[in-house]
Amino acid sequence: KRIVVLYGGRADEHPISCISAASVLNAIDTDRFEPIPVGITKDGKWIVNGEDPRGWNLDSGVLPEVTITEGAKMVVLDVALGQDGFFAQNGNELESLGHVDAVFPVLHGPYGEDGTVQGLLEMMNVPYVGCGVLASAACMDKHYTKVLLAAAGIPVAPGITIDARDFDAASEFAANGPALLDQVKAAGLEYPLFVKPSRAGSSFGVTKVENAEDADALAAAVFEASKHDWRILIEQGINAREIECAVLCPKAGDKPQVSWPGEIVLDSRSTDADSFYDFDSKYMDSSASHVEVPANLPDELLAKVRETAAKAFVAVDGAGLSRVDTFVTADGEVMVNEINTMPGFTSISMYPKAWEATGIAYSDLITTLIEGVLR
Ligand code: DAL
Ligand code: MG
Repeated sequence: KRIVVLYGGRADEHPISCISAASVLNAIDTDRFEPIPVGITKDGKWIVNGEDPRGWNLDSGVLPEVTITEGAKMVVLDVALGQDGFFAQNGNELESLGHVDAVFPVLHGPYGEDGTVQGLLEMMNVPYVGCGVLASAACMDKHYTKVLLAAAGIPVAPGITIDARDFDAASEFAANGPALLDQVKAAGLEYPLFVKPSRAGSSFGVTKVENAEDADALAAAVFEASKHDWRILIEQGINAREIECAVLCPKAGDKPQVSWPGEIVLDSRSTDADSFYDFDSKYMDSSASHVEVPANLPDELLAKVRETAAKAFVAVDGAGLSRVDTFVTADGEVMVNEINTMPGFTSISMYPKAWEATGIAYSDLITTLIEGVLR
């Protein structure tokens, strides 16, 4: 079976996608599948025969990127031709990539994890791994994720959503600080606050605001988030542990399977009062943390997290896979923080690690996901 593995893409998470895809391509069962790596450049060009992603990793400290190297060919997608509608173009020459049995979009963030690529593949009538258009779009947007979860009775962090399009960028929103403080007060939010772009991943644009009454800090945090999205969440920081669950549902409509909940345990030197699990600690310094599965929680809480994760996956109409990130408070409350429909997929990421600890090896996980969508 010929499987297109898509990676890179237009999102800030481009390099993470490259690393995830490198792991997938290195582990995919080549007796069963013929992988066709298709890279997407940061400006949205689809290519084949670029740099071999299999050599990419984070150990070098250099972030990989899909670029149009010598010998690379642009991929042309012809929707009208359905499953055989992938072509590679070099100058004026056009050649078909041949029949494609399924696509594994190993893409994180906007233009990949958000329903856009999923919609394109639906148009082309090509099966693909993972959530469909609605779940992908809803889960890429933290505001709408919360709307859906709350409607299903699943607890979420208290917060407000604001629209930054009308703010004055020249002043870096400083003038809006006092009004923002008032909104926070009116909503009864307690500090610290986390200010986040509604649509971004990997902690891009997220700032912690510690001090009440600090209008400048709040305005600056909103300005930072606005570089990623105009829709911005101001959420009350939850004093809780972040516990993540891997959900697997290879065939749409089946009962989702849920892994043991896992926890990213930060090593002491990387935790101080101001820090949180940001981009660098997530990806650039893997020695700063380790994954623990199952998380060190009482059995009844582990069960509650798994149950909540399954319910959340169904509430957003999930399919294929998702990593459900929850907050577990000291008094045993479980809230859903976010749902990642194409979670980090490197062999050391939480999603595969959680399945490994629950009994599914990395390579078998890839096989299960792909076989679930083959026609
Ligand atoms: N958005 C990143 C890839 C994750 O959640 O794993
Ligand atoms: Mg997360």
